[in-house]
Amino acid sequence: MPLPRTATTFAPPVMEARRWLDGATFPDHRPLMNVSQAAPVDPPPRALREVIAETALTNDAAHLYGPVLGLPELRAELAERWSKSYGGRIDSEQVCITSGCNQAFAAAISTLTGEGDEVILPTPWYFNHKMWLDMAGVTSIALPTGADLLPDPDQAAALITDRTRAIALVTPNNPGGVEYPSELVRAFLDLCRRHKIALIIDETYRDFDSRTGAPHDLFQDPDWHDTLIHLYSFSKAYRLTGHRVGAMVASQARLAEVEKFLDTVAICPNQIGQYAALWGMHNLSQWLAGERAEILDRRAAIQDGFPRLAEQGWRLMGLGGYFAYVEHPFDLPSNQLGPELVRRAGILLLPGTMFMPEHDRDGARQLRIAFANLDRAGIGQLFTRLTGASF
Ligand SMILES: Cc1ncc(COP(=O)(O)O)c(C=O)c1O
Repeated sequence: MPLPRTATTFAPPVMEARRWLDGATFPDHRPLMNVSQAAPVDPPPRALREVIAETALTNDAAHLYGPVLGLPELRAELAERWSKSYGGRIDSEQVCITSGCNQAFAAAISTLTGEGDEVILPTPWYFNHKMWLDMAGVTSIALPTGADLLPDPDQAAALITDRTRAIALVTPNNPGGVEYPSELVRAFLDLCRRHKIALIIDETYRDFDSRTGAPHDLFQDPDWHDTLIHLYSFSKAYRLTGHRVGAMVASQARLAEVEKFLDTVAICPNQIGQYAALWGMHNLSQWLAGERAEILDRRAAIQDGFPRLAEQGWRLMGLGGYFAYVEHPFDLPSNQLGPELVRRAGILLLPGTMFMPEHDRDGARQLRIAFANLDRAGIGQLFTRLTGASF
């Protein structure tokens, strides 16, 4: 008998890690450092919160069901913005708004796959991608990355079968942090097009990319929509995680299929959240540039401070977006090290095993540090605790 859908996958990793905190105590001189989740902990800027409050009080339509594919003004704004920033042509009918980027991924996969189909994911992978594929009855085909955490298109080509429906990339990467070079992303588009499969590219962390200008040229290809599905999240940019607003850019024909999924699952994205996202796009560019500069400074602090850890056998594998992905020097596997770090060092982070297929042993040596919520002093503290730890 086939398993129920949810029984085909694992429990949510962030929740599992949170349970390591049960019963743990943190003395005043060593409070918990939580670098487990890639989510801004501060609320949105005050002006945006005022817009949210004002929308709730004065815009009656914001309390009703809205269009399944999202607010037309927000779709149009994103189309115009992305057309400009990627130097291509995206129509508003090629944009839909979703209840967060995770839902966009789920919707995209539902338009592409049937039972037993395959999707290629570079490893370490984003665990929610793996979880959705499991629950959708789709086989995740792991594409191991090398020491630089970059996937190799030739290796991917060798994994394509007649059941492959898509390759899904995340750049800047979660959990690896790495920013995929433009030519690499282009090589994946060409590969996918040759094989008539989709290229899904999740750019949740695009606003924190260290490169200036467009991170890839895929939208400059006038036929991008025959292959490309681009995903975005408003969660990180404007600190709207709890409002659940994301987006998908794809062909109009695919969005007609996506509409079936979204209508059934959530009917429409959060209306107040969409107004907030729209106001953010109109008014918070400067503010977001400041946020990006701060994240890049924190990233530089990781880079600058890492030699202290490297001396003790740590290795920095990837750095960017919200993440540092590291190899630890201890004999303990990372899934045991995680709870121990809570108890002995007051650090909550996620083990590499949560981002890897079970059979892959590399995850046991790796850890993800979601550093975005730590300022320079906090990063210094984190490194002091890590260098002081022994197992
Ligand atoms: C790669 C990636 N995609 C999607 C998401 C989820 O975004 P949202 O809050 O928009 O669902 C995250 C959040 O951590 C992420 O890291």
